[in-house]
Amino acid sequence: MLRTILLFSLFFATAVQAQQLLSPDKNVALQFTLLNGGVPSYTLSYKGKPVIKPSKLGLHLKGDAKSLLNDFTVTNTATNVFDETWKPVWGEVSSIRNHYNELAVTLTQKETTRQMIIRFRLYDEGVGFRYEFPQQKALSYFVIKEERTEFAMAGDHTAYWIAGDYDTQEYDYTTSKLSEIRALMAKSVTDNLSQTSFSPTGVQTSLMMKTADGLYLNLHEAALINYATMHLNLNDTTMVFQSWLTPDVNGDKGYMQAPCTTPWRTVMVSNDARTILASKLIYNLNEPNKIKDVSWIKPTKYVGVWWEMITGKSAWSYTDEYPAVQLGITDYTKAKPHGRHGANTANVKRYIDFAAQHGFDAVLVEGWNIGWEDWFGNSKDFVFDFVTPYPDFNLQEIRSYAASKGVKMIMHHETSSSVRNYERHMDTAYKFMKANGYDAVKSGYVGDILPRGENHYSQWIVNHYQYALEKAAQYQIMVNAHEAVRPTGIARTWPNLIGNESARGTEYQAFGGSKPNHVTILPFTRLQGGPMDYTPGIFEMDISKLNPENKSHVNSTLANQLALYVTLYSPLQMAADLPEHYDRFPDAFQFIKDVAVDWDDSKYLEAEPGEYITVARKAKGTGKWFVGSVGGNDPRTSQISFDFLEPGKTYIATIYADAKNAHYKTAPQAYNIRKVVVTSKSKLAQWVAAGGGYAISIEAAEKGQTKGLKKL
Ligand code: NOJ
Ligand code: CA
Repeated sequence: MLRTILLFSLFFATAVQAQQLLSPDKNVALQFTLLNGGVPSYTLSYKGKPVIKPSKLGLHLKGDAKSLLNDFTVTNTATNVFDETWKPVWGEVSSIRNHYNELAVTLTQKETTRQMIIRFRLYDEGVGFRYEFPQQKALSYFVIKEERTEFAMAGDHTAYWIAGDYDTQEYDYTTSKLSEIRALMAKSVTDNLSQTSFSPTGVQTSLMMKTADGLYLNLHEAALINYATMHLNLNDTTMVFQSWLTPDVNGDKGYMQAPCTTPWRTVMVSNDARTILASKLIYNLNEPNKIKDVSWIKPTKYVGVWWEMITGKSAWSYTDEYPAVQLGITDYTKAKPHGRHGANTANVKRYIDFAAQHGFDAVLVEGWNIGWEDWFGNSKDFVFDFVTPYPDFNLQEIRSYAASKGVKMIMHHETSSSVRNYERHMDTAYKFMKANGYDAVKSGYVGDILPRGENHYSQWIVNHYQYALEKAAQYQIMVNAHEAVRPTGIARTWPNLIGNESARGTEYQAFGGSKPNHVTILPFTRLQGGPMDYTPGIFEMDISKLNPENKSHVNSTLANQLALYVTLYSPLQMAADLPEHYDRFPDAFQFIKDVAVDWDDSKYLEAEPGEYITVARKAKGTGKWFVGSVGGNDPRTSQISFDFLEPGKTYIATIYADAKNAHYKTAPQAYNIRKVVVTSKSKLAQWVAAGGGYAISIEAAEKGQTKGLKKL
């Protein structure tokens, strides 16, 4: 503490100009200070406790010794109060309050007369700030060598982190002290697909942390548009993070032309972990919706010809003749089928029947189009054209069959990261979708990006993901992009972005398994920027039952899988397992059939990163409530109150819980289901297994329905 005070006084002693800003509830305080030499800096505190210690701001420009780092004077300051409520097209809640106090500091560099504005927006749960470059003679085009934004931590916090990789976010999280990151880095990247080398103390955002005195901190960014993704590089002696942008093929970090802005850098803080989960700070920092007619954007629950390929039970490709094009196979009717192709007409119809029977909106089919042989044969020069089906996938027949059953088909575009190839075919591919009744696409960017040397998160490819999204909006197509950059709230502006993967999803349960507590960290990190297509709902945890050669195990109980539909918010939810597995557990499957995908309200009841999350959500327009609770690596008892229900009303709750002997490894399918009567006064103490969870559906009781049921 003494050290902190000393540091603070040292800081202020060298300060030449300072501005203070408070959050609407006055708990968060921001101080902007121009240090000696005209160096911009800031601090942040929460209820008097330091959150961000004196931290410098600025940018290092390429070929410009002066850069935008110092020699500034404050030539203007402007404050503003903003309070507005907006309605998202889909979401965890039906209306969102955007309430902040703003400070915009105009800085002029003495020698160059260049101007830069640093705009701060202070919310009750943190801050967003960005650099703005107004149109001016002294600064028009510039290349960023590195952004030099600092986030000086006030201690050696516990962090929930993944490696600062430029090409993938599909990691299990490591929980450690900041000072331990260096030692644990190598271990954290084993089994990873990426070939990128990275800094020994570099991590990705959204970075979640907890301080020794119980503050929850989160560092991320909002509105990542026309800019490189920010990772954070830690100086583990001083505990100062510095922004670390993803380079392009030349090592440059950003091509800028004024007027322009950077994305918002965000720091969230609270003494209650639930506040971080409920925060809408990232969305609020994004621009309002730009799509006028949103009638075609629909939250969707779907099944798909997918898990069978992921587990290796069937294949995306049609033939084993790799690479097909080099072998002269462009007409696949002449190729020898290997007989394990998942996307064949009969199998697809089976999924359509299942979707129709159980009330799902849509069916995703992967491996329907030619090109997989070439990709697996490592040819990227000819890969996918996104319009040519394999000979055993009868597009017309499937199209009319699905339509006759009232089921939508979801398109799949695996780009193989051949981005130029995708851009060349994009208009044709989207037109083809519309002509054939598809209004949603799952896209994917597996493997190294072409053009060679580009990374998954540099400015150039961030622009590609945005281009694909905006073009899709023109065609009224919803997008769910896998392996694309992690979201930063852009779905507020472009609500056709109904899903992203951009983290370790369920597929890894078939690639060796994920940590049981993974799902208790994702909502604090990856989901801060937008929904995740996590693809929950696995009922058969022993993958060797699907494919004897795959010894992977799903590290989750069945009840935990049900809870994920509520705890991992997404307007796009898959029931990822095979129809035959759901047929074995029809009583538990009922929850997946019933659960909503769009909400009027959400109440976070319990939360601790790495340990547990419990949330209650009110289904949009129906008055039904659903509760989901997930646990971590150890068993626990969840304690909740039903005071979110309307007082005086009687409800029936169906509780899907881990059985006494349940355990993610030894007894994942041990669950029980009970029906009880609840009111707003009810309380529940529910045991949760290791890697377990529970799910509850709650409906208002009609007359006579409570007969024979116990009160909770
Ligand atoms: C990786 C995606 O995450 C997965 O869902 C997809 O099936 C494969 N790529 C193939 O495109
Ligand atoms: Ca993936």
